[in-house]
Amino acid sequence: EKGGWSSFMAKEISEEPEAVANTILGRVHDGLVSLKELEPIGDEALAGIDRIVIVACGTAAYAGMLGKYAIEEWSRIPVDVELSHEFRYRNPIITDRTLVISISQSGETMDTLMAVQHATKAGARVLSICNTQGATIPRESQAVVYTHAGPEVAVASTKAFLAQVTALYLVGLHLGKVRGTQTDEQIRENVIELQAVPEKIAEVLSVSQAEIGQLARWMTDTQSVLFLGRNVGYPVALEGALKLKELAYIHAEGFAAGELKHGPIALIEPGQVVIVVVPSPRDPHSLHPKVVSNIQEIRARGARVIAIAEKGDAAVLPFADEVIPIPLAGSLFEPFLAVVPMHIFGMELAAAKGLDVDQPRNLAKSVTVE
Ligand code: BG6
Repeated sequence: EKGGWSSFMAKEISEEPEAVANTILGRVHDGLVSLKELEPIGDEALAGIDRIVIVACGTAAYAGMLGKYAIEEWSRIPVDVELSHEFRYRNPIITDRTLVISISQSGETMDTLMAVQHATKAGARVLSICNTQGATIPRESQAVVYTHAGPEVAVASTKAFLAQVTALYLVGLHLGKVRGTQTDEQIRENVIELQAVPEKIAEVLSVSQAEIGQLARWMTDTQSVLFLGRNVGYPVALEGALKLKELAYIHAEGFAAGELKHGPIALIEPGQVVIVVVPSPRDPHSLHPKVVSNIQEIRARGARVIAIAEKGDAAVLPFADEVIPIPLAGSLFEPFLAVVPMHIFGMELAAAKGLDVDQPRNLAKSVTVE
């Protein structure tokens, strides 16, 4: 039931901290990750994996993109992310050293199920990340890591996305251990970061909800919104754009910020709203100044800039119309925090337009046809 919430989505966004915490629960021992769910594949086989392909649709595919950054970083295994329906209709290069990871909240998405069957037939090891106990996709997979986000009723996924990213990160840390690409000390540091995420999400929720609600109310007539992000901020930008399409029926596009000058900048005209995910000033790849200069470029062309930036980031203040602050976190962990305002924003804008937040037109919670 909705309880006192205005919509299931409002309730589910409020549950984002627990979705992450409950997905970690019971999977950390002595500060290290151990996923006994991976036993059907076995650590020996996992140590020999030479390629990972993540298959998913919609929001789950953006969770998969985030998984790519973390898994590659920690396990040094190359990871590709493919939309299930694209993967299925090719002759993908798969061997018994390929690990296919499917991600599905419902575990019933036909496109992803077909991808899982296709991968199994081709001889891959198949691991599924799923939020629904006993659903079809987990039943057809060699191994399953369940996300513990709790039932998700609103059609557009919110808390399940965060739980999916959590599960992927746990898989990445497990692989890092099995392959010896991460020392125990490094794994422990990352586990501590991951365990700190729920409390930081709670902070984002309490700090940004009112501000985003206000923003949404002046944006009800907005026709188009662009989202920019770089590195792990890029999938966050894509997720933000998807939420706006799904929930508020506003044309929205997410871009990698580095791509701006290769095309999208032509779209910038006075009044264009651009939401930018700003990397931390401490970003290890030094992307912060590059994104700040993107903001300057679009601002100079009259864009209205809403920045999601680390709290205390003084460099963005002079150039952004609005700043939504997020707590400090390691680079790979920022998306857990930056995506939360995206979810609130989609929901608030839909609500401000008087739309049905939980049941957007033309969409279904699980699409069981191809
Ligand atoms: C779409 C939903 O139909 O399916 C999205 O509207 C969801 O919210 C996508 O991300 C994938 O669903 P699932 O259950 O496979 O994660």
